[in-house]
Amino acid sequence: MADTQLMDKLVSLCKRRGFVFQSSEIYGGLGSVWDYGPLGVELKKNVKDRWWRAMVHARDDIEGLDAAILMHARVWEASGHVAGFTDPLVDCRHCKNRFRADDPRIKGTPGQPDAQCPVCGSRGTLTEPRLFNLMFKTFMGPVEEQAAVVYLRPETAQGIYVNYLNVLQSSRQRIPFGIAQIGKAFRNEITPGNFIFRTREFEQMEMQFFVQPGTDAEWFERWREWRMQWHRDLGLTPARLQWHQHGPDELAHYARAAFDIQYQFPFGWQEIEGIHNRGDFDLGRHQEYSGKKLEYFDQAANQRYLPYIVETSAGADRVTLTLLVDAYREEEVEGETRVVLGFHPAVAPIKAGVFPLVKKDGMPELATELYHDLKRRFPVFYDDSGAIGRRYRRMDEAGTPFGITVDGETLQARTVTVRHRDSMQQERVGLDRVADFVAERL
Ligand code: GAP
Repeated sequence: MADTQLMDKLVSLCKRRGFVFQSSEIYGGLGSVWDYGPLGVELKKNVKDRWWRAMVHARDDIEGLDAAILMHARVWEASGHVAGFTDPLVDCRHCKNRFRADDPRIKGTPGQPDAQCPVCGSRGTLTEPRLFNLMFKTFMGPVEEQAAVVYLRPETAQGIYVNYLNVLQSSRQRIPFGIAQIGKAFRNEITPGNFIFRTREFEQMEMQFFVQPGTDAEWFERWREWRMQWHRDLGLTPARLQWHQHGPDELAHYARAAFDIQYQFPFGWQEIEGIHNRGDFDLGRHQEYSGKKLEYFDQAANQRYLPYIVETSAGADRVTLTLLVDAYREEEVEGETRVVLGFHPAVAPIKAGVFPLVKKDGMPELATELYHDLKRRFPVFYDDSGAIGRRYRRMDEAGTPFGITVDGETLQARTVTVRHRDSMQQERVGLDRVADFVAERL
């Protein structure tokens, strides 16, 4: 299957099955903003829950935080985003379209007579590149003036830095320790696209680990290893994960070292998470701009210092897309195409489908009872419409790992048929064992 075809099929499956919808679709849609439907919200929630469990609940040295999206405007001056979070853009004076200056479709040099607009084809109409800030700006309070400007945060990290002392003091942590947060971020991306890969509103799962200067390189390596393992544990194909080290000209203004975890998407190897050694850039800048001391006093060593920060920054939407791409497959079964999302059971939105084989002989009653019993432990789906084969196929497309059918034998032997999504093999399991059978495989 051609790669572009795969993305088209995935987008269409996501809509058909209720994973992801275009935002404001009935009004013609809003560019690169997406809504998660009933299955998508479960899938993404599973990603976020696994991240939170691994980063916060399973560790003694990381605390959670949920900072507000709106922050003091000075935060973004200190962070460098007001001055430096920009893309160079060119406008076409003829058709009014706007492009990134490095858009490969542009022929010639923007600003020069030979440059050609990739949309209308006019020559000499492209302006010189101008810097365009990617932050969304709005106003706080009733007056729309410069003093009232606030930004929608372009990353969640700054909410952590400005709360670092609050968390340190209230949690009684000592360095080394981390603060983790999941939340929305907004970027007025100029070339968004590839479905939910690059959007203007997205969710980040970020963790900032505060360490003693001099120990940062060691922590950086540990965090690289742990984060890669987390992605592998999602059940992603290992050969489709790789490291990309940032060269000197790629490094963000705050980073001393940076590695991306990349996934091989149909549109190429792309970043899903960044691990950054930020040194003391962030706390140093906030200390300077706020005038508040942000140093840490290490009692044991009787030493005062500004901690260095190792950051792990993943996109919840990108990881969700990675799971969808990795899971999608088509198979020929008895002359028909079977579409399957082969999610690891732990991330699958629905864990099991429950079906009465026919709508008579007490099967719907028994299946309903089983459904309610299972529903107390995990998301399950009840379906009694259409042929059993069709019901299995619908669950295959939703990525549901188990199909549980109440049939004639159930009434006599108190066993059900469990059909496995990937192998399509069936086995009989005792009615009173079904819940544990599923739970053991999550
Ligand atoms: N605090 C550091 C930071 O924000 P980043 O590399 O700009 O670093 C981190 O972003 C992660 O956030 C990326 O690896 C990606 O998963 C996600 N991300 C960034 N921009 C995004 C966008 N426009 N749409 C979806 N996810 C995005």
